[in-house]
Amino acid sequence: MEANERLQKITDFILERRAATEAKEFEKYNAFDYDYRWKHTLRVVQYGRQIAGVEGADVEVVMAACLLHDVSKFDDEEYGVEHGRVGARIARPFLETLGYSAEQVDNICFSIAAHVDDKADFEHPITLESKIVSDADNIDRFGAYRLLLQFKDHAENYMALIERAESRILTLRKYREGNITGTAAGEKLFNHQLDLQINFLEHLVKDSKLTVEAKL
Ligand SMILES: [Fe+2]
Ligand SMILES: [Fe+2]
Repeated sequence: MEANERLQKITDFILERRAATEAKEFEKYNAFDYDYRWKHTLRVVQYGRQIAGVEGADVEVVMAACLLHDVSKFDDEEYGVEHGRVGARIARPFLETLGYSAEQVDNICFSIAAHVDDKADFEHPITLESKIVSDADNIDRFGAYRLLLQFKDHAENYMALIERAESRILTLRKYREGNITGTAAGEKLFNHQLDLQINFLEHLVKDSKLTVEAKL
């Protein structure tokens, strides 16, 4: 089987799971969550592909793991910090049917399992590919769209919005100083996202200082 055929099969696997969950019409169902999750997944794949190319990683392993990293989020259950490890268990038997080597299956499963908190429930060393999946996920989690989502419900209460922005800037600055990413190419993209968010929020706060009485 050729790489793109495998990636297509993985895509179909996830979308079929999503469709099966959505067909259940369970109580907590929210169409937006599933739509967001899939679009996030697709962006993570592209970030992963880009970083893998620069870092000389196994690009297909990275793309497969990025596609599957949040597969358990398409269930009707909330697994919290376990969602990576649950996802790896969902993915493994399916991955074994695609013709990957045992090492590649393990690497993909480890990357899925460890993307949340660096821990898997099976023995495996940290790999370049697993670091990239985690970096790609974080990069999208700090993207422009995510910033918009975080603030959209607060836009109408101006002072509360500004306070929220000020506190978010402090958090983002901490991330900017911390060493969160696992690869150099990932760090570059991640810092770019943080800078974009910090810049925007600083501008928002700066403009709020102009909201004063018109006095000479
Ligand atoms: Fe995740
Ligand atoms: Fe994710």
